[in-house]
Amino acid sequence: MTITDQGQHSAPAGTQDKRGMNLTLRVWRQQGPSVKGKMVTYKVTDISPDMSFLEMLDVLNEQLIMQGDDPVAFDHDCREGICGMCGLMINGQAHGPQQTTTCQLHMRSFKDGDSIDVEPWRASAFPVIKDLAVDRRAFDRIIQAGGYISVPTGTAPEAHATPVPKKDADNAFDAATCIGCGACVAACPNASSMLFTAAKVTHLGLLPQGQPERDDRVVNMVAQQDREGFGGCTNIGECSAACPKGISMETISRLNHDLLGALRAGARPKS
Ligand code: SF4
Ligand code: FES
Repeated sequence: MTITDQGQHSAPAGTQDKRGMNLTLRVWRQQGPSVKGKMVTYKVTDISPDMSFLEMLDVLNEQLIMQGDDPVAFDHDCREGICGMCGLMINGQAHGPQQTTTCQLHMRSFKDGDSIDVEPWRASAFPVIKDLAVDRRAFDRIIQAGGYISVPTGTAPEAHATPVPKKDADNAFDAATCIGCGACVAACPNASSMLFTAAKVTHLGLLPQGQPERDDRVVNMVAQQDREGFGGCTNIGECSAACPKGISMETISRLNHDLLGALRAGARPKS
């Protein structure tokens, strides 16, 4: 510590405290599915740029609990970008300003003094449970509608018993990286789930193991997404731009190709 000409104390060079950010948050608060919600303004101070967005919300919640207020409900699990549980509209963008999951978004993406709007996914097929947490079971039902695949069980197969072209294996793997977060639906002006459904259809449809039920799978999954109330795809591309796993629009083309082939071959959805 040194004393300056003005008599003020200052830390030696290289040891200054890094000041955290002071932020204004406007957070969607909604007590339950059938209760009207509203944006509520909170201040958080001394937020480290190295915190994740969810850690910043943890700070807010600790503050609310200390005041005897109800903490903000939001979904999360792995906090490593793997599980797909987290998902918030941040300043109107699904998962915020970076193409990543909300848990992997860091506060260094914001500036001291910023105002940040935090809302749940907005889609009628994802009803709000409380505050920022939404019900995404519609995605589970789409997967369920896809049914099973027929593969021989027993001991592990010999690695080269079922040859898979490298390109197909790569594309199937890329599609399989979908974590079911729902950002594609939230970003889409039609609240369409096509990118999600296409990813799930594609990762099995490109592999030999996925062939026996390929036609039934695609017609049933598409029928289920319609039943759930998701909108239609009009090729806007916001879904892919918001997808933390970079699932491409080409995946939707593959789904449409599969669907057309299945319908032509006579496949029809189960009622
Ligand atoms: S396609 Fe992308 S944005 Fe949509 S659910 Fe999967 S990972 Fe999330
Ligand atoms: S909490 Fe698992 S992906 Fe964000």
